[in-house]
Amino acid sequence: MAKKLRVGIVGVGGIAQGCHIPGWQNVEDAEIVAAADIRKQALAAGGELAGIPKDRLYTDYNKMLREVEMDIVDVCTPNCVHKAPTMAAFKRGCHVIVEKPITTSVANAKQMIAAGKQARKLLMVAQSMRFGEDALIMKRWVDEGLVGDIYWGRASYLRPRGVPAWGTFISKELSAGGPAYDLAVHILDLCMWLMGHPEPVSVSANIYLEISNKPSLMTHNPKKFTVPDELAVGFIRFANGASLTLETSWAINSTQPNNGVFLAGTKGGIQNNPPTLVREEAGMLTDTTVQVSPDRGIASHHEEIRQFAEAIRKGKPSPVPGEQALITQRILDGIYKSSERGKEVKV
Ligand SMILES: NC(=O)c1ccc[n+]([C@@H]2O[C@H](COP(=O)([O-])OP(=O)(O)OC[C@H]3O[C@@H](n4cnc5c(N)ncnc54)[C@H](O)[C@@H]3O)[C@@H](O)[C@H]2O)c1
Repeated sequence: MAKKLRVGIVGVGGIAQGCHIPGWQNVEDAEIVAAADIRKQALAAGGELAGIPKDRLYTDYNKMLREVEMDIVDVCTPNCVHKAPTMAAFKRGCHVIVEKPITTSVANAKQMIAAGKQARKLLMVAQSMRFGEDALIMKRWVDEGLVGDIYWGRASYLRPRGVPAWGTFISKELSAGGPAYDLAVHILDLCMWLMGHPEPVSVSANIYLEISNKPSLMTHNPKKFTVPDELAVGFIRFANGASLTLETSWAINSTQPNNGVFLAGTKGGIQNNPPTLVREEAGMLTDTTVQVSPDRGIASHHEEIRQFAEAIRKGKPSPVPGEQALITQRILDGIYKSSERGKEVKV
């Protein structure tokens, strides 16, 4: 059997412990050989979960990269700490999988992509929604021509009450922004993937912070963190004439949580939660809904990691290349710019 793929993890907090470590443990020909985290508590817990010897646990990822031989670096740090370990890992000749969003600016994303190209290593962005069962069913409908040309979509990820309670997400310094960076990046990526990655032209958006700092909604320590924003709504135009309506919140006075995408095509419409195809059959508008197993997202994380390992082994392209995440990053940048300027902006 070929040598195992050696993985080092940078940032062993929530997503690493909950999804990435079990994901790598699920890949037969991979082993987690080291980890780095600036928080000793997270490092100890993550290290134990991953079965990493204590002398391979580092508080400085650069030291880890210098001292431990590895093939893959898995970056699970807060958004604003995605770029530096990615660049360092490529410099060391490793493949990189980085959590979503790729980073927090278009300029950073371009540098990360260029560094991967220079190192001739794969860059994958962990857009886990693409690997869920319902996403794969929708993609199958698109690929089999049942949807036709997609000309409009609605991407909605509204949490009525769901301001994250800890620092990574609500600290502007660590995350760069609110639900657009946390939630919209998932549904945007899903829509772009299903739409065939059309070229975005412009974005018109508004961002709001109206209710999250009310005492009843504060799950965070207001002395330590202030919520950056809580609601983003936008409209994106693409060069091929298609458009997308986007709405995402951590807090909104609504009774229904809404997490879904709907895409309208010339032959059919598709939506997730559960995956449904609407089209005309025998002169009637019908819908086909597929029953999927309740997943809670874990299986999709395992699948993204499995596919990344397979791409490395088989010399295949990255399952979610940086170039695709760059397009999403252009839209995210556009959302914030448009809201600041109060008008539509080119992206
Ligand atoms: N795909 C998903 O569904 C999903 C879900 C949650 C989080 N995420 C993403 O994962 C990333 C991490 O989120 P989280 O919820 O795990 O946050 P977290 O705060 O629980 O974990 C992040 C860890 O990174 C560590 N860290 C920070 N700076 C570091 C540095 N310079 N070197 C080494 N370690 C450092 C922190 O100490 C912390 O332990 C974010 O980018 C987030 O968007 C994705």
